[in-house]
Amino acid sequence: MNILLIGSGGREHTLAWKLKQSPLCNHLFIAPGNAGTALCGTNLPIAISDFDSLATACVANDIDMILVGPEEPLVKGIYDFFQNRKGLENIKVIGPSKEASQLEGSKAYAKAFMKRHDIPTAAYGEFTADKYLEGVEYIKLQSLPIVLKADGLAAGKGVLICQSHLEAIAEFELMLLRSKFGEAGKKVVIEEFLKGIELSIFVLTDGENYVLLPEAKDYKRIGEADAGLNTGGMGAVSPLPFVTAAFLQKVKERIIDPTIAGFKKDKLDYKGFVFVGLMNDNGEPKVIEYNCRMGDPETEVVIPRIKNDLVELLVATTTQKLNEITIETDERAVATVVAVSGGYPGDYEKGKAILGLDTPALENTIVFHSGTKKEDDDIVTNGGRVLAVTSFGENITEAVEQSNYMLEQLHFEGMYYRTDIGYEFKEPAAL
Ligand code: AMP
Ligand code: GLY
Repeated sequence: MNILLIGSGGREHTLAWKLKQSPLCNHLFIAPGNAGTALCGTNLPIAISDFDSLATACVANDIDMILVGPEEPLVKGIYDFFQNRKGLENIKVIGPSKEASQLEGSKAYAKAFMKRHDIPTAAYGEFTADKYLEGVEYIKLQSLPIVLKADGLAAGKGVLICQSHLEAIAEFELMLLRSKFGEAGKKVVIEEFLKGIELSIFVLTDGENYVLLPEAKDYKRIGEADAGLNTGGMGAVSPLPFVTAAFLQKVKERIIDPTIAGFKKDKLDYKGFVFVGLMNDNGEPKVIEYNCRMGDPETEVVIPRIKNDLVELLVATTTQKLNEITIETDERAVATVVAVSGGYPGDYEKGKAILGLDTPALENTIVFHSGTKKEDDDIVTNGGRVLAVTSFGENITEAVEQSNYMLEQLHFEGMYYRTDIGYEFKEPAAL
């Protein structure tokens, strides 16, 4: 079958790499892709939410299935667009409908869904400008810290953790009355702060059944030991030593089962990946957020651990046969370390030549491209996150060391990466 993958990051290079391994994948196209996806298929210069041009490309290239990487086209309704467009109804889009994508597109929608289906999450209130004064009173009653969330998509910047009531009220005013996050902040969710260790759980659902994929932990801060600004993600590891069978059982019973049952009860059309951001508070899982797609850089560790044929999994998703699938995972540890442009997550320059990509591949290491593009004979930087180097190891420490070693062979002006990914799980050095 011919497949179109949408997106251009490390997540998409990883998905392209995996799709291309399937004997069921005939032609693979990526829109718009990067220099890494170009090694796995044909890049098409089409923007991720230009549905009309994507539709034209699907007809021209006889596409059977579309796999959507990022949230934006999902929240804008790519699933519904293809389903309702005459002549395109047979193209299967892997991803939720526009309505179901609100689970990521609107924090208030996600909170109401969890409340309705009795899924454990932080207590909350939601407020619009006309309820500003009520919101201020609500803030005054909360214990510290207080979490404020812009309702809509705010490029990962819409969550504020406030250490005082004054700060929370000031930020609340900026969001609701002074449009700090534009449209996204017209509604604000005020939330209880959850303690514990954060982790990401992934499932693939056909709307009726689901398969649980390997879990992962993402390192969001720019600096070592989780210091500094939030980024899209500086690295990830899988599996997580604290995710025991007993913990997973709780996650399934209390969170995943009611989530999938909730889709059915609410008649939400959802055939795709669900990414559940969780807090593990002493073995008790609570949902921080839903995302309607795979994570980046979590995909760079989750997908390499899956032994199944990805196209087979996606076909079973569209035919509602995921109940017939057993996920087989590589038991080794996997880590990815992300190399970013100097200045990221603030301003940074693009177009820096990347050297060392022709270094002979290390066994057990894969260099995935995030923000890269081909320019004449060079591969140059084209984003904040540039490369995601994934390695397998006997344990997380070994996998991270291997990725760090590979990164020492690579270079671009201003390149930076964290050397401490997976630090909490570090094995003591052998005596
Ligand atoms: P989100 O955009 O919902 O992923 O939130 C961004 C980050 O803020 C999360 O990854 C958490 O680290 C943190 N966060 C969000 N909600 C809470 C909460 N209720 N308690 C503690 N931390 C939170
Ligand atoms: N790594 C977090 C995300 O993809 O949203």
